[in-house]
Amino acid sequence: MIPILLSGGSGSRLWPLSRATYPKQFLAMNSEFSMFQETLRRLNGLDHQAPIVICNADHRFLAAEKLRELEITAQNIILEPMGRNTAPAIAIAALEALKQGGDPVLLVLPADHTIQDAPAFHVAIRKAEKLALEGALVTFGVVPKSPHTGYGYIKRGTTEKNGGYDVVQFVEKPDLATAETFLSSGDYLWNGGMFMFRASRYLAELEKYNPDVVTHCTAALEQAEADFDFTRLNSDAFAKCPGISIDYAVMEQTTEARVVPLDAGWSDIGSWSSLWDVCDKDDNGNTLTGDIITDNTRNSYIFAEHKLVTTIGIDELIVVDTKDALLVAHKDKSEDVKNILEELKKRA
Ligand code: GDD
Ligand code: MG
Repeated sequence: MIPILLSGGSGSRLWPLSRATYPKQFLAMNSEFSMFQETLRRLNGLDHQAPIVICNADHRFLAAEKLRELEITAQNIILEPMGRNTAPAIAIAALEALKQGGDPVLLVLPADHTIQDAPAFHVAIRKAEKLALEGALVTFGVVPKSPHTGYGYIKRGTTEKNGGYDVVQFVEKPDLATAETFLSSGDYLWNGGMFMFRASRYLAELEKYNPDVVTHCTAALEQAEADFDFTRLNSDAFAKCPGISIDYAVMEQTTEARVVPLDAGWSDIGSWSSLWDVCDKDDNGNTLTGDIITDNTRNSYIFAEHKLVTTIGIDELIVVDTKDALLVAHKDKSEDVKNILEELKKRA
């Protein structure tokens, strides 16, 4: 089994802490280790080969440094000249894994999730590995807590076989009304965003539904250049590849998907409110990081990087103060940081 670390995202909804030059997966959010490192540390105790890391070329030294701190030598750190989303990133990793011979099972891991119960996670991985060895494309299903529109939804079959269920339907990022009906039906799970399959099985399904992606990724890797410990994909070839996620490119289409339930305190730290959800809180429900004095303040996430921050009489707020930017947001609206970033782009 080869872990594939997807760490090409920009983590923009955690602005102003997460920046294009230092995205959230390389930040330590709720631990002394960064999320990238936690993703690797979580594998301790599982039998696996050296990981393949795939990230943006701009972040190569961050990735290398985080690996070095853990004394982990990656099988390869593959550099994308630009983001093309997850279907191409995983295709590149699968093609690279096949170069080593055999047809290994890949464990695809986003580098920006938290999982509280590592032993429960390991149990799910071991089940999924067996299904992957039989040729399935395995995903992990989390019991949904809300009609979140940023996730994939999986309708699972009724009978369990070898630890997994058939995927009856996979719907990526439904609109709110659809997500609400999925939630109230009780038949759907959230897609945990992690996948397991043999390298060849993923490529075969991708070839079936999005052959362009395979063609351009093959060319980008064939013409890649070695740069010290890194592999730089060919920019012209990779630029031609369509940008599409694995969820749309394969998981919504394939009939070979299976889902293994995951009950391990999983969370995608996609926004400030989801970070608050998983962080330790004081008696007032606050998560405070830095030099902060609060009075009559509840259920808030407050981060002070370089100066004293004080709050009085506030509830359900996100306050993130960094050297050059201050964010104050209602917790329910923290996904809308993307609107601020749109405005910032106009200014640039
Ligand atoms: N190398 C690389 N290149 N990595 C990428 C790229 C890219 O172009 N784009 C995204 N990633 C990484 C992100 O850093 C993240 O770790 C992971 O791939 C998933 O990308 P997201 O952009 O965070 O996806 P999402 O959260 O919107 O949706 C996915 O995850 C959800 C669960 O967290 C989907 O799989 C959903 O179905 C799922 O519910
Ligand atoms: Mg995500």
